[in-house]
Amino acid sequence: MSIEPFDVVDLIKTKRDGGTLTTAQIDWLVDAYTRGYVADEQMSAMTMAIFLRGMEREEIRDLTLAMIATGDRLDFSSLSKRTTDKHSTGGVGDKITLPLAPLVASYGVAVPQLSGRGLGHTGGTLDKLESIPGWRAKLSNAEFMTQLEEVGAVVCAAGSGLAPADGKLYALRDITGTVEAIPLIASSIMSKKIAEGTAALVLDVKHGSGAFLQDPARSKELAETMVALGQDAGVATRALLTNMHVPLGRAIGNANEVRESVEVLAGGGPADVVELTVELAREMLALAGVDGVDPAEHLADGTAMDSWRAMIAAQGGDPDAPLPTPKETHTVTADRDGVLTRQLALPFGIAAWRLGAGRARKEDPVDHAAGIDLHVKPGDPVRAGDPLFTLGTSDTGRFARALEALEGAWEIGAEGDPVDDGGPLIAGRVG
Ligand code: URA
Repeated sequence: MSIEPFDVVDLIKTKRDGGTLTTAQIDWLVDAYTRGYVADEQMSAMTMAIFLRGMEREEIRDLTLAMIATGDRLDFSSLSKRTTDKHSTGGVGDKITLPLAPLVASYGVAVPQLSGRGLGHTGGTLDKLESIPGWRAKLSNAEFMTQLEEVGAVVCAAGSGLAPADGKLYALRDITGTVEAIPLIASSIMSKKIAEGTAALVLDVKHGSGAFLQDPARSKELAETMVALGQDAGVATRALLTNMHVPLGRAIGNANEVRESVEVLAGGGPADVVELTVELAREMLALAGVDGVDPAEHLADGTAMDSWRAMIAAQGGDPDAPLPTPKETHTVTADRDGVLTRQLALPFGIAAWRLGAGRARKEDPVDHAAGIDLHVKPGDPVRAGDPLFTLGTSDTGRFARALEALEGAWEIGAEGDPVDDGGPLIAGRVG
């Protein structure tokens, strides 16, 4: 039996008392936890100590590198194209990857977008794309590389081989109240992104009612921490700080979000979805060395749509097939004349989830047709009787609980009342 170089209880006490862990200690801790030598209860004490005491920049870098070392690293050096990727901290109605990946790829850049499924109120990109008949999320390594070279854009399932320590640690954080620690979030996200091997990365870090970290100052701190981690690892990294106080666009769900994304690719779509897609594309292209282009042009002239069709077809999907629509709908209307002054993202996300668009447990199926279509956005004038939003599901039994989640989530005020929209869509930039 090999002798372990550290005692985990000493490491926990060091962090509990506000001390700093060394590179060797962090490397050992992550490795020993991954192989089962450090027990879950010990690691939960450690994550709580990190939650309460924080970590130095060097410790966060060491933790990220140690998690990367537990798994595979992808290598895109054989590609003829530069790689650039995007990660969003997640939100309600956030379908931006769908128009963004083909838009960026239409400029000759490769976008390797390894994505996940939704859990809780934020949706998953793979769940959305799976509403397209025939589309499959799982690709072999060879298929992945061929599609990157030939089509440029790939959105597919991340295998469990990238930073496996993160999967184990995240599951533990989830049940011990330690998810919202900036050093742990930053190292979790960036270990997977750095292992993925992209040369450039743009982060969309959200704040507001539907975001993971609601407070703009905390989400800025998260962005700064992640940008520093990326840059230290040689990945050209930047972040946009964006508003997730209100849902993004007018569709929340799966198939309806694909429909809205196709509208954007066809040169239309809601202004906020278009603005965020274009600004993220501009940043991704600049980091990949493509300067001086206006990405809005490829939305207007159909080039991005061609790239979308190729991306969907390459993964077995039929871009022309009709998307599922809900069997049952329920529309909520305005009870008076006025202006919509509130539309909070979080309750709308929870309501869509309760309609069947999301899952409560990893193994649950999703109802691709379920979701919410918003007919008005904050600041829009409304007349009594106007439709405000429509809930859709396969199961009428789900309406009551969804409507319960929406109590207090929206409000009609008088003309001139302040609109609770959370401020500008793009609030700042880091990196
Ligand atoms: N997403 C991740 O991948 N990890 C976190 O810790 C939080 C969000």
